[in-house]
Amino acid sequence: MKKIILIACILVSACSKSSLDTPEENVAPPAKDTVVVNLPKDSCNNYFFSVNTCPGEICTSQMNVSWGTKANTEYCIVYLMDEAGSVIRQAKLPASVAEMCTVYDGIYSKKANGENFYESARFRKYSYTLSPLESNKKYSYRITSYSMDSKGRRIIATSDTYHFKTAGADSWSACIISDFHSYPPLPGRLSSAMKMVETVNSYAKTKRGKEFDWVLHLGDVVAWGGSWSFWNIMYREKPFKNWMWAGLNGNHDNMTRQSDYSNKFFKYSTGVPLNGYQGEEGVCYTFTYGNIQFVMLNNEDMATSAGLSRAQEWVRKVLKSSIAKFKVVCEHYQWFYGSTGSTSQYSRWNDLFDECSVDLALGANNHIYVRSHKLNNTVYVQTPSSDNERGQDPIGELEYNQDKIAFRWNEGPKTVGALLMEADNSQITLTLLDRNAQVLDNVTISK
Ligand SMILES: [Fe+2]
Repeated sequence: MKKIILIACILVSACSKSSLDTPEENVAPPAKDTVVVNLPKDSCNNYFFSVNTCPGEICTSQMNVSWGTKANTEYCIVYLMDEAGSVIRQAKLPASVAEMCTVYDGIYSKKANGENFYESARFRKYSYTLSPLESNKKYSYRITSYSMDSKGRRIIATSDTYHFKTAGADSWSACIISDFHSYPPLPGRLSSAMKMVETVNSYAKTKRGKEFDWVLHLGDVVAWGGSWSFWNIMYREKPFKNWMWAGLNGNHDNMTRQSDYSNKFFKYSTGVPLNGYQGEEGVCYTFTYGNIQFVMLNNEDMATSAGLSRAQEWVRKVLKSSIAKFKVVCEHYQWFYGSTGSTSQYSRWNDLFDECSVDLALGANNHIYVRSHKLNNTVYVQTPSSDNERGQDPIGELEYNQDKIAFRWNEGPKTVGALLMEADNSQITLTLLDRNAQVLDNVTISK
């Protein structure tokens, strides 16, 4: 118990700049004769970029919100609402608590109509922790931004309303999806994945009598992470408004059209807890949802043995000090190559997972679903792709690791699949669904 309180105290102090109790900084009021333009909500898309809800470090009481606003924003107000939609708290956040973000500015990109262009992206990046929250509760929020335009008018813009649910239920569920490589000139990729999320949700409602509670993505959600417009377009989809999404950095999220690489593309597109190791703050992170400790890794900085050592040192530290009942480690790259079953990341991690008693290891990237038997303490699962376009060729004979691999699946290049994760106090169950909500595989980890 002491440990929980200590962690909570550290977090509150670390996040004091962004908690709901933040003392307001003074923002000079506009001159008396200032014209105020209160924009209709539907016209506010150009005032809020990539609004998304991410896990706080402890999801029973904290949720993080990430968004961008125009560079000339003076301040934003975040309104927290209860399930009935009544405002229960608000916080005024001056522009000084938001970072000026230029990491995507000038990057060569592509518009939805196929036109080549350079991204124009200089904006204020806000990350904000909604805390304290009650456990096992549905909440919503919206954001209002205040800025002065070139004519000296005060512009007030209001975002859409976003929803999330805190952890704390005895039994909960989540959708797990990856590899949809959202690419505006080919909108079918994103729509296939969003439809699959809704398919998993319908399945959850039928099976459990209620919606799933959140979404876990395992990377490659956009084709080029350096293309700020790709993130913006993706985050306007309804599933990002309805649920908290916990995600990680995939190789596509980490790259530009011209094969430049940076973990900042992921970092500034979201607002995850800043508890990763040096150089990976806001990219690698850990959080608890219910009785599970999730550890989220960044493969792109683990290619060398030195990079792998740094990551493993951090994972060991996090897991050895965790009091959570279940331990789940997530990375983008696959554990096994699905086409033949040959070993991939499994051999780099299995000793550590044995040492730290990891219950579930989640990967993606290969676009072929692979699920292992329980290998010592750990079940290894990697997700299929979900964009109906970039899947692998049909899988061949299982030539390697026959003793380890229990099930493989894909639909060839046009694969769409995702998982439902269900958890309670004694077990985690994963169910693989195809686009028609047909159950293809499941596994239960009990304790
Ligand atoms: Fe991928």
